[in-house]
Amino acid sequence: MAQNIPKDFIDNLLERANIVDIIGNYIKLEKKGNDYWSNCPFHSEKTSSFSVSENKQFYHCFGCGAHGNSIGFIMEHTNKTFPEAIEALANTLGVEIPRDKETNKLYETQKIIHNCLKDSQKIFTDQLKVSNQAIAYLKNRNIKGETAKVFNLGYSEDSFQSLKVKLNKNYSESNLLDAGLIAKKNNNSYDKFRGRIMFPINDHNGKIIAFGGRILVENKERTEAKYMNSPETKLFSKKKILYNLHLAKQEKISKDYMFIVEGYMDVIALYQAGIKNVVATLGTAVTKENLTQCFKYTREIICCFDGDNAGEKAAWQGVENIMPVIKDGDVISFVFLPKDNDPDNIVEKGGRELWDQQIRNKISIEEFIYRRFSKEFDLSTAAGKTQYLKRINSLLNNLSAKILKNMLLVSLNEKIGSKYDETKDNSSPKIKQKKYKTTSPLQKAILILLHHPNISVDEKLIRDNHLKDNIGIKIIKSILELTKKNKNMNIGRIIENFREDENIYSSLNKISMMPIPKYDFPDKEFHAYIYLVIKNLLKDKLDEIDPSNLEKTAELNREIREIDKKSKNF
Ligand code: GTP
Ligand code: MN
Repeated sequence: MAQNIPKDFIDNLLERANIVDIIGNYIKLEKKGNDYWSNCPFHSEKTSSFSVSENKQFYHCFGCGAHGNSIGFIMEHTNKTFPEAIEALANTLGVEIPRDKETNKLYETQKIIHNCLKDSQKIFTDQLKVSNQAIAYLKNRNIKGETAKVFNLGYSEDSFQSLKVKLNKNYSESNLLDAGLIAKKNNNSYDKFRGRIMFPINDHNGKIIAFGGRILVENKERTEAKYMNSPETKLFSKKKILYNLHLAKQEKISKDYMFIVEGYMDVIALYQAGIKNVVATLGTAVTKENLTQCFKYTREIICCFDGDNAGEKAAWQGVENIMPVIKDGDVISFVFLPKDNDPDNIVEKGGRELWDQQIRNKISIEEFIYRRFSKEFDLSTAAGKTQYLKRINSLLNNLSAKILKNMLLVSLNEKIGSKYDETKDNSSPKIKQKKYKTTSPLQKAILILLHHPNISVDEKLIRDNHLKDNIGIKIIKSILELTKKNKNMNIGRIIENFREDENIYSSLNKISMMPIPKYDFPDKEFHAYIYLVIKNLLKDKLDEIDPSNLEKTAELNREIREIDKKSKNF
């Protein structure tokens, strides 16, 4: 989809958008000096290290290194894909996105599905109001009317044609199939959800994308599943969605921690007990997507599992899924409720107090791993210990957070009296490692050009024969082409132009994180670095040639002196 939106259009959007206004729509910014500041929305902190530059149309956090342009901010902050962020930005600016035929079709289908679901939600909530049976069910489960309203609970009539007939006027059969609201067998289509309490499922922005439905009576003679979800559609992918994330993420406490539970009813019961930082998976184990998404809003995820074997199995799946996505600083812990309990009946029995008491028994990821493996192996034997260490090593192998990995390795080794040798592990963190390393003069030249795109550049120098084929110089040339076409270029727009070229895009992003000194004459500094690049290349050549080749040596030395002279006279 991204490549279908013309580059010119994206650049034009960035030219119109003011990053200060865009970011200001999401967080409160305060002007200090030339820039705008705030506490960083991407990591938790007490002092403001998040800065937004209006001149550069770029944001940068000096604490966590987050950085980017308006599009990047929308993607990060609202967890959108690139095309979704473009769309949000275009909407804010009131601009229509040009699309090709295929993209347009997908977009239209999604819009129809969404409308269809919105209309169905209205039908279901209206039906709940007049269904004594459904009301009695919710009452019996202690759900208050106002809670039902918050979650837009509804009721689907126990009939094969109820919803279909009601939506017939505005939607075709194929619309309803696309939306997952009806099914079709032998040319006959019929309502999928019948006689169920309906739970609208929203994306993280609160847009309805699917339904879950629960039967009212668990009747052994009827064979339907207790719960049913919408099928996968062009709007809905079960493993990517967490129930109630759109409301939970708005709670202040969610910044500190969030609960992931197993069921819709658990979320709702906890909500009623005043615990609102809760989301639920949709009948799957916690997925990578779930965790990545949650960690955008919180520092700690507390996974809560019902106290049975299925609960522990689901929890373990979560541990394996978390390894590739957890970052240093993220915390994950686990709560196993007593046998035959779930969050819903915990608060039913003892309210918030009993819940808090259960949460106090949470265990860390390290304890969980130890518990699991110590059950699996006989740790009183050397062979068992070896197996244990092997398993731990292979599990943690997938962990990319280096500091955490090291801590877990040390403590899980110590638990069985084995000392973990850090020196053997070349992935262990070097504490003194500098966060941003400015390596080459060429990178410094690019850094200056990114921040001062309007300096006048001696193009003859850039075309110097020695620099031919140099990838950094090619980047500089491309940037110069952009700035020549448009005098209002800034770092945000420049980097955006390279998004499709993975290597250049990632180098430019790295370079953009480097701190830049305040230069009085950035053009002078830029050229000084370019001269230095040429000089270094000549020196490399000098090292390579046979020293007895006096003629060549003399020539290179002469060239080096010349470069030095030019550099000084610039
Ligand atoms: P209640 O019985 O209403 O209290 O639900 P629960 O949350 O206690 O039920 P359970 O622990 O059995 O299920 C937890 C979650 O798993 C539900 O919220 C559903 O998302 C999912 N689930 C449960 N049963 C089914 C089923 O039969 N089919 C499908 N697709 N999902 C189910
Ligand atoms: Mn339950």
